[in-house]
Amino acid sequence: MAPIDPHSFTDSSHPLTTHVSLSLYLDFNTSIIHGSALLTLSSAFSGDLSLDTRCISIDMVLDPLTLEPLPYRVSTTPDRIRGTEVVVVLSGQSSLLIVYSTSPSASALQWLSPLQTFSKLHPYVYTQCQAIHARSIFPCQDTPAARIRYDVVMNIPNSLSAVMSARHVRRRLAVPEEAKHLEAGSLGSSLWCGEDRVVEEFAMEQPIPPYLFAFAVGELGFREVGPRTRVYTESAAVEVLDAAALEFAGTEDMIKQGEKLFGDYEWERFDLLVLPPSFPYGGMENPRMVFLTPTVIKGDATGAQVVAHELAHSWTGNLITNINNEHFWLNEGFTTYAERRIVEVVQGADRATLNIGIGWRGLTDEMERFKDNLECTKLWNKQEGVDPDDVYSQVPYEKGFQFVLRIERQIGRTAFDEFLKKYIATFKFKSIDTSTFLEFLKANIPGIEKEINLQLWTEGVGIPEDAYEPVSTIYTKIISLAKEFKEGRMPSEDDVAEWNGQEWELYLENLPKSCEPSQVMALDKRYRLAESKDYEVKVSFLQLAVTSKCREYHGEVKKTLKEVGRMKYLRPLFTALAQAGGTEEKQLAKQVFAEARETYHPIAQGVVESILSKYI
Ligand code: BES
Ligand code: ZN
Repeated sequence: MAPIDPHSFTDSSHPLTTHVSLSLYLDFNTSIIHGSALLTLSSAFSGDLSLDTRCISIDMVLDPLTLEPLPYRVSTTPDRIRGTEVVVVLSGQSSLLIVYSTSPSASALQWLSPLQTFSKLHPYVYTQCQAIHARSIFPCQDTPAARIRYDVVMNIPNSLSAVMSARHVRRRLAVPEEAKHLEAGSLGSSLWCGEDRVVEEFAMEQPIPPYLFAFAVGELGFREVGPRTRVYTESAAVEVLDAAALEFAGTEDMIKQGEKLFGDYEWERFDLLVLPPSFPYGGMENPRMVFLTPTVIKGDATGAQVVAHELAHSWTGNLITNINNEHFWLNEGFTTYAERRIVEVVQGADRATLNIGIGWRGLTDEMERFKDNLECTKLWNKQEGVDPDDVYSQVPYEKGFQFVLRIERQIGRTAFDEFLKKYIATFKFKSIDTSTFLEFLKANIPGIEKEINLQLWTEGVGIPEDAYEPVSTIYTKIISLAKEFKEGRMPSEDDVAEWNGQEWELYLENLPKSCEPSQVMALDKRYRLAESKDYEVKVSFLQLAVTSKCREYHGEVKKTLKEVGRMKYLRPLFTALAQAGGTEEKQLAKQVFAEARETYHPIAQGVVESILSKYI
């Protein structure tokens, strides 16, 4: 008896779930889902079966064949990170049916009132399950080691429509018979077949880790942008849809490039859903339906880059998955590498190099952030007692990228491309750990361990000396301009004539963390960075302004923190305010969070809370 994942109650001696059938009734008035989950196990089992839940209340557990109740117990004190263990006592069953309800505070779900949407007319709800939030939607073995197929019958208001990380089967009227278990639980009678309700059915026929379970429900509209790609937004957000369709017009080209580099695209469709501004990430690689923040739509190269990243996950992450979060670099490091390979083909080598440069800067900053917590600088790191949302960083992305690139540089592109294709073909639809990867690497590239210190790269702290800081004219120029700022020199109009958002981002991130306030203001006066429509630029600048104690910008900081919920922007701004030392900054952080909190996704709420509690 041993846990197989530090973030799950799943036990190594238990059979894993292979299939889940869900019936879900979405109640927008109470922000509750009344659900039933039929879990099928890989084999029959007798004894205590442990499941993960978070803020879920269970009505009953049944043997699906006899409909007899099965004994179960719910642990009385939830674990701060893993949630609440539910133990079902089985006697030879290979499936179990759980009737339950979610909580309005379910960590995976953000329920938006009509006023929080673009149209202001209809409610909206969406999920974010990575890393360990699927358990707040349905009881499960919430570990990527347990890959599941699933089908869903979702009952929603008929003014709305649903999308999922799954094949859409049909939209139809509700049938009374299918509500019988839910109505025996906490769903009131005859609600299922209410006049204003409709049912959407979905099926995911490929086995996926639970963190890739995803849906969104709202008044959605779409546009075709390619033979296997539609872009979805709220249907009232016509300008967003127009801009997104333009921004993502090159998607099919990227899918084709991905197939050339990494093998067949296995998921049939590659649709894109642009979420409301509170979406906590830049993008999320939900299979068949990638989720994106609207902040990536700005008419430059970056929107396509985020799509390239999420697309790359279709091979690295969704086909080959980390067995648990301690090996997260296998997902993100390989994906960052694959993303840049796609970007190199569709946007050119200069863009790809600039991205490597921005990543390098991010990586060196993380070394500073984790100087008292070196475990977080390792690719393969111990996460017992660690909340993955608290330690999310660039390390798995950029150090992982550097490691993959190190191997490529050692053996050459041609050999590496062949290796990569074989790696993906060998482990597709499997969840693996770092050792499995290293064994495969050594078996296929004999002698590699003599050329690269594999153990130092995967288990060592910091950045190994044979990592690669990119060189390109533009990169070097920007870095040296950033150095000159300290001596009082500002970039000239000529210097910046060709710059777009990413060049500015690289420049700002290479400035000293805190500067002379008058100089910071002069820079903004000349280049209007605080008003940039590009959040990467705006937030980098505002972060500098806060750490440099330019209090004139507090109004803009507040406005920014109230209009977006992407954690890439919340983290640095709240951290800068909380760390700034001045009571005015700390006060502002507390006040803005009090006002904006409700508009953030629960995961973002948790992350900001932990930043504030660390420093204030
Ligand atoms: N899978 C991640 C997002 C994620 C990671 C969600 C960990 C929850 C826990 C996604 O693929 C990602 O990396 N998104 C990036 C964008 C990208 C271009 C680097 C982001 O959100 O910034
Ligand atoms: Zn990713």
